[in-house]
Amino acid sequence: MQFSLKIFEELSSTNNYLKQLSETRSLQEGVVIVARKQTRGYGQKKAPWISQPYKDLAMSLFLKPDFLNASDFFLMNVFVSLALFETLKHFLPSPDIKIKWSNDLLVNDKKIAGILIENRFLTTKLLDSVIGIGLNINSESFPRNLSYKFPPTSMFLEARKEFPWEEVLNRLLSELGKHYEILKTSPDVLRKQYENLLWGKKQTLRFKTSYGEEFSGNILGITSSGGLRVLVKSNEERVFYSKEVEFETF
Ligand code: BTN
Repeated sequence: MQFSLKIFEELSSTNNYLKQLSETRSLQEGVVIVARKQTRGYGQKKAPWISQPYKDLAMSLFLKPDFLNASDFFLMNVFVSLALFETLKHFLPSPDIKIKWSNDLLVNDKKIAGILIENRFLTTKLLDSVIGIGLNINSESFPRNLSYKFPPTSMFLEARKEFPWEEVLNRLLSELGKHYEILKTSPDVLRKQYENLLWGKKQTLRFKTSYGEEFSGNILGITSSGGLRVLVKSNEERVFYSKEVEFETF
């Protein structure tokens, strides 16, 4: 894929900027917006996303996955998570890198990257996607916040060395391009890889639903639409979608 990369010194949010751009003109696939300093980045549930200016990566990518049915939109999460996984694996030789369902990357049980995909649908098809990626590259510390379930980390903190920011961006773009092509032809291969990399897969975990129910269970994998399959006591399988359930502190 051809990327058209635009790097800004400062933006409030690369996702908002790209969404507005796509609403005002017709964009080609592959437009990438990067902000060296992002002042009002946001993540899932509109939570603020803080990246250190000039140290971390805040980027958004525009795609038109018109080959995907609206019901398969979760596959966008899958291919982006795997591109991030491969990028991290390239730069961090040994740590334990996992994908936390549905869209975080963890290194040694700490959160190193988050993904926020904002889709537009046209009847049963995916019209376009703004894929926001926040990757902690060279941050040396994070504000202390005891409520983190998965404390933040960065590539710098895990490897104890700085990484050339542009090299990480280029590698990530090349992995995104590669995995997007695989998505077009072999989505099931990606789905399997994603399942194999799921954090917590071999442990018994505590879950809490959005309506306050708590239970223990084991992750079995994901459904074709991205629901988390959990085996709860008494061998009952339940499926949850991303805002319905959270992992409890363990
Ligand atoms: C999350 O973990 O909740 C997702 C975080 C996504 C943050 C990125 S940074 C670049 C892009 N612009 C934003 O405002 N958010 C995403």
